[in-house]
Amino acid sequence: MSSDAYQRKYFFEKIAPYYDNLIDLLTFGLYPKFLKKAINILAPQKGEKVLDLCSGTGRADSWIAQAFGEKGDVIGMDVSKNMIEVARKRYGALKNVIFIQKDVTETWGYQNYFDGIFTSFSLHEISESGRPRVMEQSYLALK
Ligand SMILES: C[S@@+](CC[C@H](N)C(=O)[O-])C[C@H]1O[C@@H](n2cnc3c(N)ncnc32)[C@H](O)[C@@H]1O
Repeated sequence: MSSDAYQRKYFFEKIAPYYDNLIDLLTFGLYPKFLKKAINILAPQKGEKVLDLCSGTGRADSWIAQAFGEKGDVIGMDVSKNMIEVARKRYGALKNVIFIQKDVTETWGYQNYFDGIFTSFSLHEISESGRPRVMEQSYLALK
């Protein structure tokens, strides 16, 4: 891992419990509104499966799950142990949301599985060399 990648990873580990408050403050409260708009565009339907790449604290996943209603599954994937811990603590009780700690540039093992893939404010975090692999896996993982 390059020292830049290491520092970024370290930053997200440290900031995880405060991340949502910080980003809301920095965007004057606009970021959650943007997330909700993006979820509206994705338009998750009852019974669908959605992957959130680099899910952070998982709040978008809780809103995607809300949009499904009773049926539907959302998987949040993030490399940061502390982001995943925060997400599980906040939304782990929702029965159709799970969080997986994983580097999205590694193999996910999903094929023809998801109805939609959501990602927000994250692709820039992935190394340039890792991005084509993420795109390739997204293509394979989508139905
Ligand atoms: C700026 S945050 C965005 C989090 C969330 N998507 C949001 O909109 O609030 C970027 C996230 O990408 C994650 N991330 C960075 N590189 C990653 C990788 N290679 N695999 C998985 N997650 C990664 C970080 O841990 C961090 O949680």
